[in-house]
Amino acid sequence: MQNKLKTIVVLTGSGISAESGINTFRKSNGLWEEHRIEDVATPEAWHRNPNLVLEFYNKRRKQIIEAIPNAAHLALAELEKKYKVVIITQNVDDLHERAGSSSVMHLHGEIKKSRSTFDSNLVYPIEGWELKLGDTCEMGSQLRPHIVWFGEAVPTYSEAEHRVGQADIFILIGSSLNVYPAAGLIHAVKEQASRIVIDPDANIIDPTLGFRIIAENAVAGMAKLLQELV
Ligand code: APR
Repeated sequence: MQNKLKTIVVLTGSGISAESGINTFRKSNGLWEEHRIEDVATPEAWHRNPNLVLEFYNKRRKQIIEAIPNAAHLALAELEKKYKVVIITQNVDDLHERAGSSSVMHLHGEIKKSRSTFDSNLVYPIEGWELKLGDTCEMGSQLRPHIVWFGEAVPTYSEAEHRVGQADIFILIGSSLNVYPAAGLIHAVKEQASRIVIDPDANIIDPTLGFRIIAENAVAGMAKLLQELV
């Protein structure tokens, strides 16, 4: 009889994709490509100037298509040889999937998909890097980026919280934990689980929460952890 595989749940933020050349959010002082969040990443921005919002995400989509997964993404995929691994990411890129991870939940949406402004259940892959005004769903309504904007609910949150509660080992990588409700997930980790954080900034985590801190970049930190875990 085989031993039951231990479950590793990993919560990732923009720091894991930094070494793939994608800027973390707070490093750019809250500005994305010179735009304020309020102008490009809210429902109000979409109503005010959909073209600006589409162009903004088109640029980011192009950059993500050209990026490649780094060794930290690959190491997480490698963990699947010995563990059941669930990735919960705040990132809208697809670098975990391209690295080979088989279970990836996106809390804040996926930049390579669009969805209908008429029915949010109608979600489509975007061919190429551009979504334009006039691109419509099968009901004839404008498509918008499949992104959770500031001020919108996170539809996958309850499922993510449930998954975090199943972790034997919980790993947090590259998130400042500034954005809720995602940041609240660390409180769903069960008491007996081991907790590890990989982030060059050790101050992001409350020291009373019992995390082991690996104060390194994702690539170096994951190389170390992979060696220990497999
Ligand atoms: N490896 C690991 N961590 C890194 C690296 C690296 N190479 N470089 C930076 N970091 C860490 C920073 O120290 C910081 O703690 O990554 C974290 C990045 O934090 P944020 O920029 O705040 O990004 P994130 O937490 O993912 O933001 C959450 O906010 O912008 C919105 O919706 C967007 O999903 C995003 C959410």
